[in-house]
Amino acid sequence: MSDLPPESAQLEPLIGTWKGQGHGDYPTIESFDYLEEVSFSTIPTKPFLVYTQKTRHAGTGAPLHTEAGYVRSVAPGRVELTIAQPTGIVEVHSGTIEDGVFAFVSDRVVTTPTAVDVSACTRTITVTADVLSYVFAMEAVGEPLTKHLTARLGRV
Ligand code: HEM
Repeated sequence: MSDLPPESAQLEPLIGTWKGQGHGDYPTIESFDYLEEVSFSTIPTKPFLVYTQKTRHAGTGAPLHTEAGYVRSVAPGRVELTIAQPTGIVEVHSGTIEDGVFAFVSDRVVTTPTAVDVSACTRTITVTADVLSYVFAMEAVGEPLTKHLTARLGRV
C-alpha cells in the first residue's frame, strides 16, 4: 500500500527511485550514452506522483539533461503528465495505462522565446516490478516525430 488515494492506485508501479543507463540520438546530433536517476514519489492523499530526473554523460560523468513534473491519475486507464525543463520547454501530455505500459502523447509543447524548437513528443514508459524502461520521441528542429531517447532503469 502506498500513500496514494485508492482511486489512484494505478500509479503505484512507478513509485520509487530508479537508476540505469540510456542511449540518445536524433538525426541532427551525435549519438550519446547517459546515466540516469529518476524518482516518482507521493504526497499523502494526493492523486498524483512527483517526478524528478537527472542525467550524466556515461563517458565523462558531466551533467546532461534534467527535468521535473507530475503524473496525475484522472480515471481508470487514463493519466496526464506535465513536465518542465530548464531548457525552456514544457510538455503537457494525455496518456493511457494498460498492462504496465504508460503511453503519453503531448497535447501541447510550449517553449520560451529562446528555447530550441520542439513542437510535439511522445513518452512510452513500461514498468515491471523492478525494471522501468522508456522511449522518448520528438518532433523538433524541422524533423518529424523521431526517437531521441531509450533507457532501461532498475529499482534502487
Ligand atoms: C534523458 C534526457 C535527455 C538527455 C540526456 C538529452 C541529451 C541531449 C544531448 C546530449 C543533445 C545533443 C546536444 C548537442 O549536440 O549540442 C540533445 C539534443 C537535443 N535534445 Fe535532448 N536530452 C534529453 C531529453 C530531451 C527532451 C525531453 C527534449 C525535448 C522535450 C530534448 C530535446 C532536444 C533537442 C531539441 C535537441 C537538439 C537537436 C538539435 O539542435 O539538432 N531532449 N539532447
